[in-house]
Amino acid sequence: MHQDLERVFASEAEIQEKVEKAAELVSDRYRGSEPLAVCVLKGGALFYADFIRALTIPVALDFIAVSTYGKGIVSSGKLVIKKDVDSDLRGRDVIIVEDIIDSGFTLISLKKLFLERGAKSVCIVTLLNKIGRRAHDITPDFNCFDLADGFAVGYGLDYDEAYRNLPYLGILKREIYEH
Ligand code: IMP
Ligand code: MG
Repeated sequence: MHQDLERVFASEAEIQEKVEKAAELVSDRYRGSEPLAVCVLKGGALFYADFIRALTIPVALDFIAVSTYGKGIVSSGKLVIKKDVDSDLRGRDVIIVEDIIDSGFTLISLKKLFLERGAKSVCIVTLLNKIGRRAHDITPDFNCFDLADGFAVGYGLDYDEAYRNLPYLGILKREIYEH
């Protein structure tokens, strides 16, 4: 385990199992159609790569990068699009693949944006659901792990751009972000 972590809460094997289960449920839901899976960069990248490979339906890929956090650990309340999708969303079934839902601001904003652009439907798939911190009325359609508290890193998730390449999910020691 990385020395900056308090604990590991999901191993590589446990992650794969949950990701495959989510991909199976999403495949069932979209059987017969070809949805557009949009990865929310950068945090969602590792989850996305495993998730799309576990889907058993054809899927088109796209990527978006947004920021709400900056360097801190509290959402700033303003969604900035740093890199937009290339695809025309009109009439498409869109699956947003994101690392974590916390206040819900990022995902409620993205869902609204994609619907305004003409998406036929928007579904939300998350790796982590930080329960008890929601400030917006939004729930993931499919989620892998619930998280009660703590700051999660690894498997794509970062603190100040570190820890993204850890293959497991852990909780960061408080002393790392509380100075
Ligand atoms: P929300 O807009 O408050 O739902 O926050 C979602 C974004 O905050 C995610 O895409 C993450 O980038 C970031 N975030 C929230 N909680 C954590 C965490 O525990 N670890 C890493 N990133 C987090
Ligand atoms: Mg993110």
